[in-house]
Amino acid sequence: MLLNASGCLDALTAPETAKQLDAFVTKTVTPLPRGGNAPARIAETDVGMLNSIGLANPGRERFLRHTLPRLTTSLGMPIWVSVGGFRAHEYAETCERLDGDAVAVIELNLSCPNVEEAPESAAEIVAACRAATRLPLYAKLSPASWDIAAVARAVEAAGADGLSLVNTIRGLALDRDLRPRLGTGAGGLSGPALKPIALAAVHACYQATPLPIVGMGGVQTGRDALELFAAGARAVALGTVLFTDPSAPARIRDELAAELAAHGLSSPLDAVGIAHAEPLPGRKHLDLRSRV
Ligand SMILES: Cc1cc2nc3c(=O)[nH]c(=O)nc-3n(C[C@H](O)[C@H](O)[C@H](O)COP(=O)(O)O)c2cc1C
Repeated sequence: MLLNASGCLDALTAPETAKQLDAFVTKTVTPLPRGGNAPARIAETDVGMLNSIGLANPGRERFLRHTLPRLTTSLGMPIWVSVGGFRAHEYAETCERLDGDAVAVIELNLSCPNVEEAPESAAEIVAACRAATRLPLYAKLSPASWDIAAVARAVEAAGADGLSLVNTIRGLALDRDLRPRLGTGAGGLSGPALKPIALAAVHACYQATPLPIVGMGGVQTGRDALELFAAGARAVALGTVLFTDPSAPARIRDELAAELAAHGLSSPLDAVGIAHAEPLPGRKHLDLRSRV
C-alpha cells in the first residue's frame, strides 16, 4: 500500500497525483487555524530538504466543514486525517469530531519538530484519543527519541492501532553569510538523508511491537520502498519526492513491482520483515525465502 506523507501533497490542487495512491493522508489539522512560521520555510540541502512550515492549516472547524467533505467526494479513496495539537485534550477533541464514514484512520502527529511539543507524553496523548474515538489510531513518532522502540511499546499499551515512522528530524542549514537559511533557524530534515534513520526506526519498532507500521523517510525509488517493507513496514508513504516528481507514486509502484519480481516475491506483503534474520514469534505470515 502506498500513501503520501502528511503535509507533502495537497490533493485538492494535485488530484492526479493523489489518485495514484491507495489512501490519502491530510496535512496535520490543529484546533485553531495556524499561519505557520516566518519565511523562509523551505531550504534545499545536499542530502535532503529542510522545512519549518510550522503546521500551517485552516484549523479544525474549517477542515471539518470544507476540506474533508471535498476530499471525500473528489478522491474516492480512504482518507487518513493527521491530527495535531498542543495538549492531549486538543488531540482528543479533534478525534471525537471525526466521523467513521468519512475517515479511515486517524494519524496522531506526535512529532513535529517545528512547533512546541505538548507537555504530555506520546502515550498520554494516545490514551486520551483512544477514549475519544473508535477509529483506528496511528501514532506518528519522531526519529529523535533515544529509544523509539520504548515509545512504540508505550503507545501500543495506550491503545494505538499502528505506527507511522518517521517524522522529520531537526537540522540546520547556513547561507553564504553563515546565517540560518530558514526563518526559524533549525527546521525538519526530510528526503534521502532520512532513509537510514527511518529504516532503523522501522526495524526496531517491528521487533518491539506487533503493530502495523507505515514506513516513510527518503523514499525516492521502488528499491527504497522495498527496503522499508523488508525492515518491517506494511505500507510506505511518499513525502519529499512528491515536491519534485508528481508521478512518483505510479513510478515507484512500477519500480517496486520489478524489485519484488527480481527477488522472487509476488507482493509487498511477502517482503514485510525479511530484513530480520529470524522469523519473530507471531509473524507466521512472513514468507522468508532463502534466496532473499
Ligand atoms: C514540507 C513538509 C511539510 C510537512 N508537514 C507535515 C505535517 O503537517 N504533519 C506531519 O505529520 N508530517 C509532516 N511532514 C513530515 C512528512 O510527513 C514525513 O514524515 C517526512 O517528510 C519524511 O518523509 P520524506 O523523507 O519522504 O519526506 C512534512 C514534511 C515536509 C517536507
